[in-house]
Amino acid sequence: MPDAVFDHPRVARVYDPLDPDRSDLDTYLDLVDEFGATAVLDVGCGTGTFCSLLAGRGIQGLGVDPAGASVAVARTKAGADRTTWIVGTAVDVAVDPAHRRHFDLATMTANVAQVFLDDEEWLATLRAIRACLRPGGRVAFESRVPSDRAWERWTKELTHRVVEVDGEGPVEDWVQLTRVEGEFVTFESPTIFLADGERIESTSTLRFRAQDAFHHSLSEAGFGRIEVRDLPYAPGRGWLIVARA
Ligand SMILES: C[S@@+](CC[C@H](N)C(=O)[O-])C[C@H]1O[C@@H](n2cnc3c(N)ncnc32)[C@H](O)[C@@H]1O
Repeated sequence: MPDAVFDHPRVARVYDPLDPDRSDLDTYLDLVDEFGATAVLDVGCGTGTFCSLLAGRGIQGLGVDPAGASVAVARTKAGADRTTWIVGTAVDVAVDPAHRRHFDLATMTANVAQVFLDDEEWLATLRAIRACLRPGGRVAFESRVPSDRAWERWTKELTHRVVEVDGEGPVEDWVQLTRVEGEFVTFESPTIFLADGERIESTSTLRFRAQDAFHHSLSEAGFGRIEVRDLPYAPGRGWLIVARA
C-alpha cells in the first residue's frame, strides 16, 4: 500500500510544486544517452516527471506506480499522451506479453529502490524488470549510502518549510524521524494546507541496504555487469547502481 504522501490526491497534487528542482533526473537522462535507450520503463514513476522529460526527447516511456493519485497527476503532464501509464507494480507490467523483452532501460529514480522493505518483494520486482528488458538492457536505480546516516538530518528543525503553491496558498510540511531499526528507517511527513487547515499525515519506512545486498539480489534476479557508481547529484551520499540483463 503506497504511503499517503504519494496516494492522497491533494498531497500528490503538491508533490511537484513542493520540490520543483528535479536536476536529480539529469543522472537518468545521461544514462538514456549513454545506453542509446529508446524505450524506458520507469518503476515507481510517481507524478511522472521523468516520463514527461523522456516524451519531450521522443523516447517511449512506460510509467508504473501503485499510487493512483500520483499517476493521475502524471497523466496531466506534457507528453503524457505519448506515455503508457499503469497503476500497479513492475510485476503487473511484466504480466503483459507486450511488455516483456521490450525495454532497453528500466529506472527507479529518487528513493524508489528503498521503498521495498521485504526481500521477496524486492527480488520479485527485479525479476519482473529483467523480464521486461531486452537482452543486454539495463536497470538503473539509486540508494542512499547507509554510512552517511541521512536519517539524522530528517528532523522538523532541519526540514520544516512553508511553500506558496498556486491554487492552494501556503503549504507547510516537514520530515521527522521516528524510528531506526537496523536497516529500516521510519519517519513521519505531515502536509498542512494552511489556507483551510487540512492536515494530512503520512508515515513511511525506507530500507538502507548494504552494497553487497544489491549485488546479491541483482545476481539472483539474473543481472550481470553490476556497477556501483557515485550518485552525481549527491556525491558520497548515494549509489547509482547499474546492471545488465
Ligand atoms: C520518492 S517517490 C519517487 C517518485 C518518482 N520516481 C520521482 O522521482 O519523483 C517513491 C515512489 O515509489 C512508489 N512505490 C511505492 N511502492 C512501490 C512499488 N511496490 N512498486 C513501484 N513503486 C512503488 C511510491 O508510490 C512513490 O511514487
